[in-house]
Amino acid sequence: MTRLDVRLERFERPVGALTSADDGSLSFVYEPDYLADPARVPISLSFPLQGEAFGDTTTRAFFRNLLPENDQLDQVVEREGLDKSDVVGLLRHLGADLSGALSCLPEGAPPVKVPGHLADDYVTLTQEQLERIVTRLGTSQPLPDELRDPSPVAGIQRKVALSETPEGFAVPKPGSGAPTTHILKVPDTALPREAFYEARCAQLARELGFDVAPSRSTWIAGYEVLIATRYDRRIDDGRVYRIHQEDFAQALGLPPRLKYEREGRPGRAFDAAAIARLLRATAVPAEAVLAFLRATFFNLAVGNTDNHAKNHALLYGSGTAPRLAPLYDLVPIRLSQRHNHLFSFRIGQATELDTLTGDDILALLAAFGLEGPRAARFLQREIVPLIEPLMNAGETDNEWQKRLNVQIKEDTGRILELVASLVRRPLTGRAAASAARLAEGASR
Ligand SMILES: Nc1ncnc2c1ncn2[C@@H]1O[C@H](COP(=O)(O)OP(=O)(O)OP(=O)(O)O)[C@@H](O)[C@H]1O
Ligand SMILES: [Mg+2]
Repeated sequence: MTRLDVRLERFERPVGALTSADDGSLSFVYEPDYLADPARVPISLSFPLQGEAFGDTTTRAFFRNLLPENDQLDQVVEREGLDKSDVVGLLRHLGADLSGALSCLPEGAPPVKVPGHLADDYVTLTQEQLERIVTRLGTSQPLPDELRDPSPVAGIQRKVALSETPEGFAVPKPGSGAPTTHILKVPDTALPREAFYEARCAQLARELGFDVAPSRSTWIAGYEVLIATRYDRRIDDGRVYRIHQEDFAQALGLPPRLKYEREGRPGRAFDAAAIARLLRATAVPAEAVLAFLRATFFNLAVGNTDNHAKNHALLYGSGTAPRLAPLYDLVPIRLSQRHNHLFSFRIGQATELDTLTGDDILALLAAFGLEGPRAARFLQREIVPLIEPLMNAGETDNEWQKRLNVQIKEDTGRILELVASLVRRPLTGRAAASAARLAEGASR
């Protein structure tokens, strides 16, 4: 049997225990004194606060989701001679500084994660060191020794968690336990200029009023990389604190391989019904539904069909219920010929934009409790004004930007047409009048 203490940064004592039994099955249980602490928060919607232990399926899903899904995991598997399914064994090596405020440490080990001082707890990287890190990531080699097993970050693309101080990129001083503040991602080349496109989509989302993790693309050692500011951090008076987060796959008890609806089965899938259930458990459900649906239409409009269960997250601040995390990993994947363009979760019956109908849109809204005139009003008041500005992208000489603009206009135009056909249906009063205006606009 192997047991790890599960910790959250702001609690002095472990919040629970993760155990791997001799037969390999996993379980998680909260510590009784944590359950008695008035400041307790659940570490996941899939782990409500209770004394009883959680079984293998939920436990494995939650903790597996904290690990990378790429060759950065394979490197640790190989180096430590572990089996890829040995989640607890992997977390013994990688668990000290997991996503958000979480860590998994050998039983009885003292906490290693503490808030950081921006002024003293970081060592600036030289340009040479930074280039070596990026080159190693870009060529699928292990990170340099001084960065061995830093905070692991989930996902397919190779990445490393770093910090950025006024002096440049930096890493927490060894042994300081200070948090990283940024994520540096080196995308593969399946979609050329992916980092540029991701930063552009984040920028567009911000311009349309979304809460989005700030990011930018830049060139290092010949690689175009994305630098994203971590949203699971809070900087207050020069101190950096961690905020607990979980992604939707964790919240729904789904392992990484079920992050797309098409990989699951009814009742155990990332589908609209599951998402609606999840949003109902957030601190302000009506706000979360609105934000999620707006993000869904934005993703449709910019060609981001890769909005799977690990590309949405929840943040646990004060209070026991989480709120939606800012948007991240917004990539116009429909520009890539080397990815499929299937929806991550069905919209009504539709699995891709080319076959999407108005009825599918209505079915999506119905899954989130918006039906009849409310659905039409929602489309008119929230969605049309949200995505219409995307039709106005100006002229540009940048060939890459041009490709993005063309695609966004095409996809946005198609969605606006579908929406216009819906709000044109017999309506009454003010809704009818504005629907007529909208229809007129759409046919011009
Ligand atoms: N700005 C951020 N702040 C904090 N955590 C983040 C941020 N961006 C991403 N993450 C976390 O890191 C994980 C991986 O990031 P991201 O989704 O950008 O990587 P990816 O490898 O491109 O993903 P995918 O597997 O979808 O291609 C996310 O699922 C999320 O948990
Ligand atoms: Mg992602």
